[in-house]
Amino acid sequence: MSALTNRLKALPKLSAIWAIGKVLAVPRPLVLFGEGSAVRLCHSIADQGHKRVLVITDDVLAKLGTIDPLVAALNARGVITEIFTGVRPDPTFEIVEAGLQACQQARADALLVIGGGSAIDAGKVIALAATTGKTPQQLVGVLKGRQPALPFFVVPSTSGTGSEASVAAVISDSSTHVKALVVDPGLVPLAAALDPLITQGMPASVTAETGIDALTHALEGWMSLFANEQTDGYNRTAVRLILNNLETACTEPNNLAARDAMALGSHYAGLCLSTSAVGYVHAIAHQLGARYGVPHGRANAMVLPHVLAFNQPACLKKLASLSRDLELAPAGATDTVAANALSTRVSDLLARLPIRRSGSMIQRSDYARMATDALTEAHGMYAVPRYMDEQDVYRVLDGVAANA
Ligand SMILES: [Fe+2]
Repeated sequence: MSALTNRLKALPKLSAIWAIGKVLAVPRPLVLFGEGSAVRLCHSIADQGHKRVLVITDDVLAKLGTIDPLVAALNARGVITEIFTGVRPDPTFEIVEAGLQACQQARADALLVIGGGSAIDAGKVIALAATTGKTPQQLVGVLKGRQPALPFFVVPSTSGTGSEASVAAVISDSSTHVKALVVDPGLVPLAAALDPLITQGMPASVTAETGIDALTHALEGWMSLFANEQTDGYNRTAVRLILNNLETACTEPNNLAARDAMALGSHYAGLCLSTSAVGYVHAIAHQLGARYGVPHGRANAMVLPHVLAFNQPACLKKLASLSRDLELAPAGATDTVAANALSTRVSDLLARLPIRRSGSMIQRSDYARMATDALTEAHGMYAVPRYMDEQDVYRVLDGVAANA
């Protein structure tokens, strides 16, 4: 299929997604920043009059005790809590339905989600299903909720997905392994707390991989044809914060300043997801996740340098301006030199991070299906600066696979 044909087929779906970010008023969460902000969020939940809160999290955070001070803060203010620890990576419809059942059994008047992108995505759909009376499957698509969600609040345990700021959630079909997208303004939480005391427990590899996910959001948003002054401002700051702090957050896990900066960078990039969206890094990385179980952030790290190189001719001046803004290029550098300096800075960071980027699991026999699925995803949803065809995806996969 030609790039032009791909582009034409994509237009109806693309315009639907575009409408969310450009035409509809996309709500934003109230955001509390800094050390202790998660406990302050719990106090705020109680002060707003909520009496029964379902805490949605996963087994790991529950066992680590990460949620304990937050549950205690709610209980101390007279809020009755129930805990749902059933979230798993890449949450399925079954997990969301189990959470919905827990929500109904708890007679919860609000949800508090504590976790990474998987918990937040599951919590979003539980909150929307709780008020609409629709099944999670019936919410798949754009604007299927048509009602406000149950009030829900978010404490991210990672700095990467930016899901606390976006109108989208991804839920997996356990039988087909297809990832379904729910897009609805009701999926934005009322408030979120970006608390370094919560994220400092992350292992270095998780910190690195989720941080590269955030960097990818910011860079793909920067290169998007839907970028505007506002998204450029957020994404520029996000790239700066992440480039300057991710390595420190990995090597000094208790460095709260670096954790703060990463949380802010991830959140700023997340704020732009509903407008400038992402691009081919995500479209191809999702295929590595679906076929080989590569975690999302790691897959982005494997693909990012190759897509940056592919896109550069189509957005040379834009990449050069970001490089100059971040003072990565010497004064008087040409656009090519400046854009190359940005790519080099990204590659250098990737080389220093504890991320296993080997692509040795990639099978040539999977290329055709992966290319088809990646192009279907990208051309249906993302305003990429330059269109790929199947052979372009093959070349990216060759580059990823060559990294042994
Ligand atoms: Fe992502």
